[in-house]
Amino acid sequence: MRYVEHVVVPRSCLAVLSFAVATACRSSSSLPRSVGERALAEFVGSYPEDATPTGVMRTFDLTAAPAELPLIDGKKLQVWAYNGQVPGPTLRVRLGETIRVRFTNRLPQETTIHWHGVRLPNAMDGVPYLTQPPVPPGGTFTYEFTPKDASTFWFHPHVRASEQVERGLYGVLVVEDAKPPPYSRELVWVLDDWLLDASGQIATPFNTRHDLAMDGRWGTAITINGLTETVMKVQPGERIRLRLLNSANGRVFTPDFGDLDAKIIAVDGLYLRAPIPARGFELAPGNRLDIDLSFDRSTSAPFEIWDRYFAQRPNKLASIEVEGELAQTPTFASPASAHVPLWSDAVDAPIAHDFHLDAQQGGPFGIAWTIDGIAMDSSHRHAMPPSVTFERGRFAHVHFTNESPRIHPIHTHGMFFRLLARNGVRVDEPFFRDTVIVHPREQIDIGVVPTDAGTWMMHCHILEHAEAGMMTTIAVTEP
Ligand code: C2O
Ligand code: CU
Repeated sequence: MRYVEHVVVPRSCLAVLSFAVATACRSSSSLPRSVGERALAEFVGSYPEDATPTGVMRTFDLTAAPAELPLIDGKKLQVWAYNGQVPGPTLRVRLGETIRVRFTNRLPQETTIHWHGVRLPNAMDGVPYLTQPPVPPGGTFTYEFTPKDASTFWFHPHVRASEQVERGLYGVLVVEDAKPPPYSRELVWVLDDWLLDASGQIATPFNTRHDLAMDGRWGTAITINGLTETVMKVQPGERIRLRLLNSANGRVFTPDFGDLDAKIIAVDGLYLRAPIPARGFELAPGNRLDIDLSFDRSTSAPFEIWDRYFAQRPNKLASIEVEGELAQTPTFASPASAHVPLWSDAVDAPIAHDFHLDAQQGGPFGIAWTIDGIAMDSSHRHAMPPSVTFERGRFAHVHFTNESPRIHPIHTHGMFFRLLARNGVRVDEPFFRDTVIVHPREQIDIGVVPTDAGTWMMHCHILEHAEAGMMTTIAVTEP
């Protein structure tokens, strides 16, 4: 009866998701009756229904264009870049500020910008044909929205993403807390991998049969912010906030911080219920981790950060050198103290939809990746009915069955969810996500309370799988 304490407090009925709990509270003078109603009541206070704009507008100009940049080991690489940088510029605002991005397309192809993880109005979501016309070469589009969450988000094209992201089009959007915790420093690390040809340039073609049959395109040169051999220099005593993003098309990283005092404080940008050790987290394409890194005042040892996704074949990601003067250590409680529902029996709620992930022969690439037996036209030129309809502000329980022998990091636009179970065994991840890996032949359950009406993409974030059809839409309607 653990949910009782979350349900009977009157605060629940007054709190942010007033429209949602109204139903839960109305249904009974004391306890909501159904599992879904209880799950919804317990959800209240997790994150706000609406943004609270401060009236401050931050305007950014962003141009996508071909560029030649010293990347990887410093040799000239022909890429596609936002504002001539790979990764693109980190856009940084405070919670409550409105973002306006005046975008210009100087690529030889159509494109759009999708704001991965952001709960925003559907029309700003950057999905071609579904939410906006694609931006033609030479064209412009203005994105404007006020984020509801302080978070580590990112942005990337949603047109031919397996090519455009691979060529270098991605950047981080940081929405700082209204009062950011006083870390000594903050770093943004974008992880990527690059597949090069014999001349050292980005290998073509894209969407090869091999990439499609496997877990997408995996490169051999692993970079942080576009460069290999990353060395981070820190002073003893520093406490650093590290924002990590996996922008690779297919590669999964499992960062291991070894002996460092490293804790995960946010997953996909949202704070955890309590911090957890920074090891063993499978950072799939699209996922973000915020790490709280403390350097002991007496330490001078060098540290290394390794990717241990394949235990037998680890990759060194970076080394850390501790040197210089003793820095003053900021002391403050971990910001990871969010309300994240336990949802201990939410998996018993009726299933809104059971998604089946699989592959078929055929289609434009020879292999089609399917959701419920259907490969979506990834250009979205042909509209398809949504797979499932959710009501805004209501709890929904969704099940996934991966019938295939490959992994599928499933991503939902416009909403966060919580993993409830893997292969029928309940898990209590102390955080929400917007992307989760469904392993080969695995089944998972998730719980979600959508807060924004519209038609939202759901797709595999292995960009080759998405391109070859593993996409669908979820409709969220007003209750
Ligand atoms: Cu980063 Cu449609 O996703
Ligand atoms: Cu996939």
